[in-house]
Amino acid sequence: MALNRTVTILGTGSYVPEKVVTNDDLAVLVDTSDEWIYSRTGMKERRICAANQATSDLGAEAAKAALKDAGLDAAEIDLLIVATLSPDMFFPSTACFVQDQIGAKNAFCYDLGAACSGFLYALENARAQIACGAVETALVIGAEKMSSFLDWEDRSTCILFGDGAGAAILQARDRGRGLMPAVMGSDGALADLLWTPGGGSRNPISHEMVNRKEHFIQMQGRDVFKHAVTRMGDAVMATLEKNEIAVDEVACFIPHQANIRIIDAIAKRLDVEDRMFSNVEKYANTSSAALAIALDEAAHEGVLKSGDLAVLTVFGSGFTWGASVLEWGENQ
Ligand code: COA
Repeated sequence: MALNRTVTILGTGSYVPEKVVTNDDLAVLVDTSDEWIYSRTGMKERRICAANQATSDLGAEAAKAALKDAGLDAAEIDLLIVATLSPDMFFPSTACFVQDQIGAKNAFCYDLGAACSGFLYALENARAQIACGAVETALVIGAEKMSSFLDWEDRSTCILFGDGAGAAILQARDRGRGLMPAVMGSDGALADLLWTPGGGSRNPISHEMVNRKEHFIQMQGRDVFKHAVTRMGDAVMATLEKNEIAVDEVACFIPHQANIRIIDAIAKRLDVEDRMFSNVEKYANTSSAALAIALDEAAHEGVLKSGDLAVLTVFGSGFTWGASVLEWGENQ
């Protein structure tokens, strides 16, 4: 018999590297300024990994914090998904490296590639598997070492991103609404507006490719901006409609942290300026980790209270986008 269990977020955690890089620090590297970056993006600083830190190291720290928050042992995890666009290696998956670091020896593990939308995609992936009874407990991580894929001579991209990780533990519960079914979408026709064109099978690693800097992130910022505002706004409305929830019932909106102007534009469109969560000032855009870190901070800074409805929304390369609603609860 097909199950349709309620799935709840039992605990969250996050981790950012110690090294803080301010806008003034970036102005030493490229022709920019604190004024330009802050006024265009709302970013003040970002965290950057130490040379010996990889994406799985960040993910493992966030996972340990989420396990502690949930009061679970790593051996209780059945499914471990890492959403990332900056894996330790092409293979094996970063999820397998995290598994080894935290001792989640009973989990099956894989990475999920949806760029900045990855954490929400992975939450939905885990939610569906728990809802139908395929697994009991899932660990979902968004982790990125973006600094390895940035051209530190390109002022139009290097100022925008940071490193970090966030994690959530999911389990079935017989009360509340928990994490509700998401609305997600993609448009591969717009892939070239935000991508890393070199280093894969289309354009393999060669000296020429590296000389052309095609192994770094490339972006058409203005186009990305417009699509991000439209897609996240539409996805929020669609997920609220799907789950029969009115905008006014939502206590907190937690969007992808790419740019405060994108967040403000969505807030204005939905008329929810007073309920938008943002921490982009501290961490810049940490891609798939951004929503995960924001959710963890909203949970632990008292922004989310038991019984609150919260909306999560994301946008990223692909293009990919999505939105979910969840009912928050303490000791769920
Ligand atoms: N410092 C100073 N000047 C910069 C700069 C920097 N770091 N980066 C670009 N500029 C310059 C440009 O060269 C351009 O100069 P020009 O007019 O002489 O050609 C000028 O600033 C304006 O650039 P523009 O691209 O129009 O600025 P903008 O207001 O659109 O802001 C972004 C640029 C990148 C901040 C903005 O487009 C954005 O945030 N886009 C979305 C990016 C994003 O979120 N990506 C991830 C999605 S998951």
